[in-house]
Amino acid sequence: MNLKNAYNAADIQSWLVSNLAELIGVETDEIDVNEHLENYGLDSAQAMILVSKLEKMLGFQPSPLLLWHYPNIAALSQRLAEDLPQDAVIQDTTNAVNTPPALDLNAEAVLDPTIRPDALPPVTITEPKHIFLTGGTGYLGAFIIKELLEQTNADIYCLVRAANPLEGKSKLEKNLQSYAIWDEKYKSRIVPVVGDLALPLLGMGAEQFQILAANIDTIYHSGALLNYVYPYAPLKAANVLGTQEVLRLASQIKLKPVHYVSSVAVFESPAYAGKVVKEQDDFNHWEGIFLGYSQTKWVAEKLVKIASDRGLPVTIHRPPLISGDSQTGICNTHDFINLMVKGCLQMGYFPDVEYMMDMSPVDYVSKAIVYLSMQPSSIGKAFHLQHPQPAPLSTLIKWVQSFGYPVKSIPYEQWQEELINNVSSVDNPLYTLRPFLLERWSDEQLTIPDLYLQSKRPHISCEETLKALEGSSISCPPITGELFMTYTAYLIQTGFLNVA
Ligand SMILES: NC(=O)c1ccc[n+]([C@@H]2O[C@H](COP(=O)([O-])OP(=O)(O)OC[C@H]3O[C@@H](n4cnc5c(N)ncnc54)[C@H](OP(=O)(O)O)[C@@H]3O)[C@@H](O)[C@H]2O)c1
Repeated sequence: MNLKNAYNAADIQSWLVSNLAELIGVETDEIDVNEHLENYGLDSAQAMILVSKLEKMLGFQPSPLLLWHYPNIAALSQRLAEDLPQDAVIQDTTNAVNTPPALDLNAEAVLDPTIRPDALPPVTITEPKHIFLTGGTGYLGAFIIKELLEQTNADIYCLVRAANPLEGKSKLEKNLQSYAIWDEKYKSRIVPVVGDLALPLLGMGAEQFQILAANIDTIYHSGALLNYVYPYAPLKAANVLGTQEVLRLASQIKLKPVHYVSSVAVFESPAYAGKVVKEQDDFNHWEGIFLGYSQTKWVAEKLVKIASDRGLPVTIHRPPLISGDSQTGICNTHDFINLMVKGCLQMGYFPDVEYMMDMSPVDYVSKAIVYLSMQPSSIGKAFHLQHPQPAPLSTLIKWVQSFGYPVKSIPYEQWQEELINNVSSVDNPLYTLRPFLLERWSDEQLTIPDLYLQSKRPHISCEETLKALEGSSISCPPITGELFMTYTAYLIQTGFLNVA
């Protein structure tokens, strides 16, 4: 196959499948294109053989970082095809500087014209009886379920990827148990709905979709594929098209308000750098958003906005990074903050950078979302669950040192050098984050962390959100040494961190 001439994702994918199969001595039908390449036991030498063969076939040198960045065959093929459309000039990418694919996010933000909430009579929901929720097997979703069960009398119908409802129910229960927020009394009010955000009609048959559309009163959409290394394309089905299906459900048979969990990432374009962005400000700029995940969140929120303009009652909730439960310290140990802290502790160095930890505890985020979604005055509005007083990274480093961890703060460039030269195995979580931390983007050749430094970011105002929460008794726990101690104690207790 000459990929130089017949160059599309499917070609690259089948080439990779057959070459990987040959390399590791298995049949091609034993290769799953969605499986992490590391799970095939591909060591770095074999990975380099694959890359150099690929180079020969493609006629250009793909960055070795691509294997980290797009860790399965499906994502890797898609990215290579995106980068090099059929008759494009083939580029050398050995310097690991990424040219963002020619992706026009504005053109992606098109809501199916058949989704017509304005064709239905308006509704006012004061006491929902049947709530549909996506993302219930995830971190924030678990806390939203708990809050909805506590604050309403409704049954919660949870979209869940499972072989059958029994398995779905068990996944949901186990998830709440893992965050220590399960109570047996919840059992009868959590109803699994087997489906998939990435499929048309959420993976249900048309009949079941209609039944759901007729019975549900309101929707909380928290489900999404969170991945900081995939490009836009592999995330689009779940995050963008999934949101479109949720909006379709909300606009069929009877109108259902949609409470959408977005992200402050919708303001990641450099056009907002250094500016104050308020809750109701527009978010028209998308140029310069490099993370595929952030791109999908921008497009998905645009779809929600279009549906709102067509008459759908919506509220939009934009959290920053979500940290652990402020009472128990229980958190998602796979999230970015925890992996970074653990990795830096192992390395012995933190970067000395001007970075504000804008993270909000999950209990605050979930309580605020549920409370705000229930206020009639919230309809049509966006809210920022940003921490009102974020702490500088330098303060976190001081706390870590005061707990006895022997870590130093070193200049950012030196920290990057350490990362390149001394973090060479998966034992350190920073190893798998290396592509995210080191790959260079934009004309200025900045890394993603460069783009997140304080001077490059907007100031996300949460003034209107705090005002809307007044009188609710919900407030964001301050980021103090005590809170940090609560988090650290949990991480040590679970074995995620070692005692200093
Ligand atoms: N975590 C943060 O720091 C943060 C910050 C800002 C915004 N947000 C937003 O908050 C929301 C929740 O995030 P999270 O931290 O709770 O994420 P999470 O723990 O990774 O949970 C994601 C949820 O989405 C579900 N999901 C993913 N793909 C799906 C698919 N194809 N079909 C059905 N369900 C699917 C997952 O189901 P499975 O269990 O089947 O995978 C899981 O229930 C997301 O919309 C995210 O963008 C999160």
